[in-house]
Amino acid sequence: MAKIIFYGLLVVFFVMQLFQPDRNTSSENFKTDLANHYKIPDTVENVLNTVCYDCHSNNTDYPWFINVQPVGWYMQSKVERGKKHLNFSEFGSLTKEQALKKLTLIDDVMKTNRMPLKAYKWYNNDANLTEKQRTAISHWALELRTIIQNDSLKALNPDTLITSSH
Ligand code: HEC
Repeated sequence: MAKIIFYGLLVVFFVMQLFQPDRNTSSENFKTDLANHYKIPDTVENVLNTVCYDCHSNNTDYPWFINVQPVGWYMQSKVERGKKHLNFSEFGSLTKEQALKKLTLIDDVMKTNRMPLKAYKWYNNDANLTEKQRTAISHWALELRTIIQNDSLKALNPDTLITSSH
């Protein structure tokens, strides 16, 4: 009996592998990317790139186990959900009001320690943000928020804006 259950589960496991999740990957340098629109301090950009962009951009840097189901399905569902809430690759196409709202939320999730998601910290060591990194991101988000509120043109990054349509 135990043998039958074991082989049954094995078959279920192999069948699951036939259903691979979609991948969120792109090599495009989006004109609407946050970094192409606004000036970002290196320390902040570094964290956004190595951590937040995995679930909040059009390009996820996947771990090997994305290929192993059902773990991969779980991760992909988080990526898709995260992207719906906030997509840095398309940040430049937000209206002023939307951008202000997202920046307020970024400050909020840093202060309440809600991001990045806990499960994600198991495999990405960079995701255990220090107090200093959290404060830096909060500070940057609030500062950019104020600049955009007062004069959205001033917030734009002149070095990279040439490539932008805005
Ligand atoms: C493993 C995927 C993942 C990573 C990494 C991640 N997020 Fe998220 N994020 C999500 C998901 C999923 C949501 C949707 C809300 C939820 O499920 O908690 C979300 C929601 C948000 C929101 C909106 C919160 C709200 O109340 O609407 C902000 C802002 C945010 N994340 C910022 C960040 C920042 C900043 C980082 C990097 C420090 C980050 N996230 C890293 C998955 C992720």
